[in-house]
Amino acid sequence: MAGYRNRLRNDGEEEGLLGDHVDGQSSPKSKTISSYRWTLVSITVLLGAVIWITVYLVTGINGGYQCFADISHRWGQYSPYFSLADASISDAVPEKCDLIFVQVLHRHGARYPTASKSKQYKALVETIQANATAFRGKTAFLHSYNYTLGSDDLTPFGERQMISSGIKFYERYEALTRDHVPFIRSSGSSRVVASGQNFIQGFQQTKTQDRAADRNQISPTINVVISEDSGSNNTLNHNTCPDFEASELGDEVTANYTAIIAPPIVHRLQSSLPGVTLSNNDVTYLMDMCAFDTVSSTSDGSIVSAFCDLFTEAEWTQYNYLQSLSKYYGYGAGSALGPTQGVGFVNELIARMTHAPVHDATTTNHTLDAPGASTFPVNRTLYADFTHDNGMIPIFFALGLYNGTAPLPRDHVQAASRADGYSAAWTVPFGARAYIEMMQCGGQAEPLVRVLVNDRVVPLHGCAVDELGRCYRGDFVRGLSFAQSGGDWSSCNA
Ligand SMILES: *[C@@H]1O[C@H](CO)[C@@H](O)[C@H](O)[C@H]1NC(C)=O
Ligand SMILES: *[C@@H]1O[C@H](CO)[C@@H](O)[C@H](O)[C@H]1NC(C)=O
Ligand SMILES: *[C@@H]1O[C@H](CO)[C@@H](O)[C@H](O)[C@H]1NC(C)=O
Ligand SMILES: *[C@@H]1O[C@H](CO)[C@@H](O)[C@H](O)[C@H]1NC(C)=O
Ligand SMILES: *[C@@H]1O[C@H](CO)[C@@H](O)[C@H](O)[C@H]1NC(C)=O
Ligand SMILES: *[C@@H]1O[C@H](CO)[C@@H](O)[C@H](O)[C@H]1NC(C)=O
Ligand SMILES: *[C@@H]1O[C@H](CO)[C@@H](O)[C@H](O)[C@H]1NC(C)=O
Repeated sequence: MAGYRNRLRNDGEEEGLLGDHVDGQSSPKSKTISSYRWTLVSITVLLGAVIWITVYLVTGINGGYQCFADISHRWGQYSPYFSLADASISDAVPEKCDLIFVQVLHRHGARYPTASKSKQYKALVETIQANATAFRGKTAFLHSYNYTLGSDDLTPFGERQMISSGIKFYERYEALTRDHVPFIRSSGSSRVVASGQNFIQGFQQTKTQDRAADRNQISPTINVVISEDSGSNNTLNHNTCPDFEASELGDEVTANYTAIIAPPIVHRLQSSLPGVTLSNNDVTYLMDMCAFDTVSSTSDGSIVSAFCDLFTEAEWTQYNYLQSLSKYYGYGAGSALGPTQGVGFVNELIARMTHAPVHDATTTNHTLDAPGASTFPVNRTLYADFTHDNGMIPIFFALGLYNGTAPLPRDHVQAASRADGYSAAWTVPFGARAYIEMMQCGGQAEPLVRVLVNDRVVPLHGCAVDELGRCYRGDFVRGLSFAQSGGDWSSCNA
């Protein structure tokens, strides 16, 4: 990708400057010394490049989190973002095309468990410690494990993820970010707002170092924070559709699937921990702990939690699927009113892409989105919105991105590769990001639209899609008839 090459080139330049400096300090210039120095300089340059590439890969600006990938990419929505760029169509901007618009929709970075879960995890660990008369095999660490995780907020690792994403966004869209300041909104919870701020930090630091950028421009800022208080119309977070909020289908489907996968694990763990009685749910909690403990204990995720070792790779595949079921039947097409929760945002997106006022009677706030309001400009080039996994899944389904996904089987694993790219880990990991791009290509009158979810080009549905996954804007917008007609909002009070 262009940004990656650029970083390497810039880095080479910096090393060159360092080399000049070393040379400048030399006084007696004998041939041997200068060739010795030259070797030293070359070694320094080489070492610098190696260290730099290592940092680049470890912090995962482009590829995301690649440590312990065999398991960490199977933690559902608790997987840290990893790039799916290689999964299908190239994510590069096609030849003869210029980007003219980008909207990023972003989940917050890795966080501690929510407050209620944190309490339950801690209680579980403590009861195990109180009841167990022995800690055999891989459970040995539990004997002295001290539960000290925080709650709700981003972890230091999650903050880094978001800074990296701001850098990546700046570089990926350099042709636009040099000259345009994104318009930014955030849903109101503090980890989401903090994620937006970290993204901005990465973005602006990169812009400040870019000599080709318009550096007189002000830093982006979070222009609008949309309240998550109950009764608040928020296109980035569900809460005003009563029948949707009351639905328990997602929980029922996951409880049933847990009842299939957990018993053999309960049996194994209980035999390692005599005196302990575990429920199916406890198994899920111990598996959750693997992800949370890993993203909490170091700021680069370089140490995998001992909880992870309690389970096999096959069990991680099942856990991953459990989370995919929970999102699909809780917020996606498996839920009667799931996709409807994403309709408001899609109607806002149409307004931004067509430079027209918002037409929506679902979750938009008409005060914020009023024509001409400074809280909803429609003439910008770059937009960023920050939210939750449960904000993003309904939007993806309202866009029809996974309309090619057959209803997920409730009793056995359907891998993402066989579910037209849908899984919780592929769509809404910690730090997930979708890019919605418009590009003007080779003298054509109408721009093309493309959507990338975690760098995977998701071929569009509902319009005449080309081999690169794109549709013309007018056709794309017409295909969004589900959103334009308000989804099934009228069933919210059925
Ligand atoms: C557990 O961690 C807390 C907070 O760091 C500390 O106060 C406490 O002493 C620790 N307990 C044990 C048993 O190590
Ligand atoms: C709409 O937004 C305005 C301005 O932020 C706010 O005062 C109002 O409470 C919001 N109304 C709803 C229903 O969300
Ligand atoms: C859960 O399993 C029970 C028992 O097999 C079944 O009756 C019920 O329909 C299942 N629920 C869902 C939501 O799949
Ligand atoms: C621990 O023991 C108590 C009392 O015997 C019991 O109620 C509880 O279910 C046990 N919990 C676990 C996780 O073993
Ligand atoms: C909030 O949404 C409801 C349902 O679409 C709508 O009736 C109401 O006018 C909206 N409130 C505001 C302030 O936009
Ligand atoms: C967008 O429109 C507003 C209001 O008309 C104007 O002040 C602003 O300069 C425009 N911005 C761009 C990027 O065209
Ligand atoms: C996706 O499928 C839903 C349900 O069949 C349909 O209402 C919607 O129009 C489709 N969306 C697109 C973009 O094809």
